[in-house]
Amino acid sequence: MVEIHELNMEGEQFRGAKTAHLPEQRQINYEVRLKNNPKYEVAEVEESLRSIFELFDDGIKSLIPKQDKDKIVQAISEIMDEIETKELMEAMNVVEECVAEVIICEESLKYSALPNAVLGKFYLFNMDKAEGEEEHIDEEGDGEIAACQTWMLPNKAFYGLWESLHYSSSLKSDLIQYAETSFRLSQLGVSNTLISWNKVILFHGPPGTGKTSIAQAFAQKLAIRQIGGYQNTALVEINSHSLFSKWFSESGKLVQKMFAKIRDYADDQSVMTIILIDEVESLTSARSGSANEPADAVRVVNAVLTQLDSLKKYPNVLVVCTSNITGKIDLAFIDRADMKIFVGPPEPKAIYTILESSIHELFHKGMITGKYSLRSEGYDLPNPSACERSLIAIADNAQGISGRTLRKIPFLALMKYCAGAQQVTLDNYLNAVEKAIESDKVERKHLSDENIKMEA
Ligand SMILES: Nc1ncnc2c1ncn2[C@@H]1O[C@H](COP(=O)(O)OP(=O)(O)O)[C@@H](O)[C@H]1O
Ligand SMILES: [Mg+2]
Repeated sequence: MVEIHELNMEGEQFRGAKTAHLPEQRQINYEVRLKNNPKYEVAEVEESLRSIFELFDDGIKSLIPKQDKDKIVQAISEIMDEIETKELMEAMNVVEECVAEVIICEESLKYSALPNAVLGKFYLFNMDKAEGEEEHIDEEGDGEIAACQTWMLPNKAFYGLWESLHYSSSLKSDLIQYAETSFRLSQLGVSNTLISWNKVILFHGPPGTGKTSIAQAFAQKLAIRQIGGYQNTALVEINSHSLFSKWFSESGKLVQKMFAKIRDYADDQSVMTIILIDEVESLTSARSGSANEPADAVRVVNAVLTQLDSLKKYPNVLVVCTSNITGKIDLAFIDRADMKIFVGPPEPKAIYTILESSIHELFHKGMITGKYSLRSEGYDLPNPSACERSLIAIADNAQGISGRTLRKIPFLALMKYCAGAQQVTLDNYLNAVEKAIESDKVERKHLSDENIKMEA
């Protein structure tokens, strides 16, 4: 059984050159996860999908239940001749054999009806199930330290992550656009002395706003879309904290060893390598940061900067950094980043979507009973239902709360305000969510008051 999911991708496909001249026609793209060891060639699977999906004017937008398959074939055989119907049956068999899941990437929440939609691209991919592998480097005379973790992408570990992150801004589409431009220039061999881009992106903002997640999800997205045309993609996540040796003077050497490892990956030009330096502030925190050994801190930062520069020449490498505190990052480092993206707490519309997705999961799993009258895009739609109006009010009232906290609210609501209940109605649950958010705000206020007292 092939599962089909409908998802919003915040318009990213529609900014590309291909669709720019088609303002009134919207393209629907599909990400197609293949089953293990498919029996047919990828090209044949794509061909089969296309021939089925072409039958639907607006593209396939919802699940076709297995029991309806026969009905569809029957209906089609009435209008088509025998050969075409046979071809369609074959195409359906190929899809059933090889496709595990189809993710529909829509243009925008605003156009959920998608009139005049045209069939866009199919991105077929296999999901790697291997867990991240730890890599170690020697710390002189002191054994080994875990320096980084690597994954082959698309990987199960990051499944659905991109779709689970909600931002009101064009952050996601900007990222895709950035990657496409960057890899295009690299492939064309554009001179870096004439046009300077460093292939470094920096996400910065308060903790819990999804910076690490969006960085990982972005890498996964690049792998699924094969942006840059690479067949294989690796994600190398560097443990910034580990690069500081207990003996600080060794840190410069550790950085060098670390990047030597990275170059091992980068040297394989058939693999797109995405390097994630998480919480980079701990690596490059302003050169004057270390009071006792400032000279060594400078050495570490300089080592990182030199190494980053040396990666520029690899067309297949992209560096993605995150930081919780921009103020503490070395300015020379900030200058290196092509894009500095501020990631803040979600806006009310995104809050609505985040909460709705959690509530929907509880409904799906049977915790919430009765009629489900929430639409994921309900924040903007005309004629919201009573429940939608409640959730909109909750979202408006939850401004400033981080994505991380929002993902915990549904649990807290169940635990604290629906205690003991095996099942709750949507109405009651929404009340509980409202209370949980209120209580989180109060707690937060207490904490910040305490901090102020301590500082005074
Ligand atoms: N805008 C958002 N939309 C959905 N979930 C979010 C959002 N921001 C944060 N989260 C959730 O919060 C959790 C923490 O995110 P993380 O990437 O670790 O944040 P950061 O690196 O900024 O501290 C993740 O599980 C993520 O799913
Ligand atoms: Mg983080």
